[in-house]
Amino acid sequence: MKVLVIGSGGREHAMCWKISQSPKLTKLYAAPGNAGIAEIAEIADIPAKDQEGLLKFCKAKEIELVIVGPEAPLTEGIVDRFEKEGIKIFGPSKFAAQLEGSKVFSKEMMKKLSIPTGEFEVFNSAEKAMDYVAKKGVPIVVKVDGLAGGKGVVVAHSMPKAMEAVHRNMVKKVFGKAGERIVVEECLEGEEASVIAVTDGTTVRLLASSQDHKRIFDGDHGPNTGGMGAYSPAPVVTDEVEKELLEKVFLPIVNEFKALGHPFKGFLYAGVMMTRKGFKVLEFNVRLGDPETQAILPRLENDLLEVFLATVEGRLSEINLQWRDEDCVCVVIAAEGYPDEYETGKKISGISAAKEDKAIQVFHAGTKRQNGELVTAGGRVLNVVGSGRGIFEALSKTYNAIEKIFFDKMYYRKDIGHKATKVLK
Ligand SMILES: Nc1ncnc2c1ncn2[C@@H]1O[C@H](COP(=O)(O)OP(=O)(O)O)[C@@H](O)[C@H]1O
Ligand SMILES: [Mg+2]
Repeated sequence: MKVLVIGSGGREHAMCWKISQSPKLTKLYAAPGNAGIAEIAEIADIPAKDQEGLLKFCKAKEIELVIVGPEAPLTEGIVDRFEKEGIKIFGPSKFAAQLEGSKVFSKEMMKKLSIPTGEFEVFNSAEKAMDYVAKKGVPIVVKVDGLAGGKGVVVAHSMPKAMEAVHRNMVKKVFGKAGERIVVEECLEGEEASVIAVTDGTTVRLLASSQDHKRIFDGDHGPNTGGMGAYSPAPVVTDEVEKELLEKVFLPIVNEFKALGHPFKGFLYAGVMMTRKGFKVLEFNVRLGDPETQAILPRLENDLLEVFLATVEGRLSEINLQWRDEDCVCVVIAAEGYPDEYETGKKISGISAAKEDKAIQVFHAGTKRQNGELVTAGGRVLNVVGSGRGIFEALSKTYNAIEKIFFDKMYYRKDIGHKATKVLK
């Protein structure tokens, strides 16, 4: 089977790595990929947002299955477009992708289905939003409706910060259309976790749980990033919590989309907060998380390509996901300065030495080849992923491997997984 993976990050490298192990695969392509993906797939230099370019490529190469990594093409309707051309594609339709593309859509659906989530109101005027913020007091959370690359949420602990967030979104319009409407939400406290399901529109299978680290600095300080590390499983997500999530969140959502005539196919990711009153859903995504995927997929025993195919063909009920009973940790190596300004073009060394340990994978995020040399090409550069019996072994293997990797001004968090070790103590 000829497969195309769309995307260019560590998540897509991890997917390509796992798909390449499938006996069903005859040829793997990636668009636009990165230098790590180029070692296992043939690169098509087409941006993820160029639907027509990708379509033409798929027809020319007779691609039999397309897998979409990032959210933007999904919310722009790539699945609808490709299906219309008779091409098999894994991911939700444009309608279903609103669950991620619009926080208002997603909160309203949660309310309708009585899914546990923070109390909220939707606003399309700054004045009314500010009145509400003043009435509710702080801490309070201000979220833009549309996609904002992980920068659209402000957890405000002071009134000026909350008001400024409203002002930035609705008066200054820093996020453009995405911020025309906002959600103002109750601030929840607790430990966060990610639970991702795969669904063919009827059957739901949960992936192993995980937890990511969004802030740039140790101890969860500093600005938010695309993610600085992750581990799987997340000990706060017990079997009981998983069962409850399936019954109270995933099945109601999947049944609702089916009833609306728009079955949800693909990954459905719930970001949850484990509060003292039980879990509350913070948000949905409609694709795998990055870097959660990098910590989840090494634990999967199944043939991932078969999982994708069964989902697209509506026979996920035939598949049970099996997970290795080991822990997996992903530490992101970034360029110093990220998520603000950083330099690129730094020569990277030591990846093969790091991979000498069979428990280690190095997935690329922002890398490229320049005159034959591997160099940095983004803020998040590499993902070092290690597995072990228990979180402590996984952590020590991962951090040992990182010691072998070098580029000028590399930066990584030293405390990935520490929350899990605390829960286990
Ligand atoms: N109601 C809330 N209470 C406390 N923290 C929140 C709340 N909603 C979001 N957050 C924090 O903000 C982060 C980003 O919010 P999220 O809804 O996941 O949006 P996005 O990932 O699109 O930026 C969450 O991971 C969480 O840390
Ligand atoms: Mg989120």
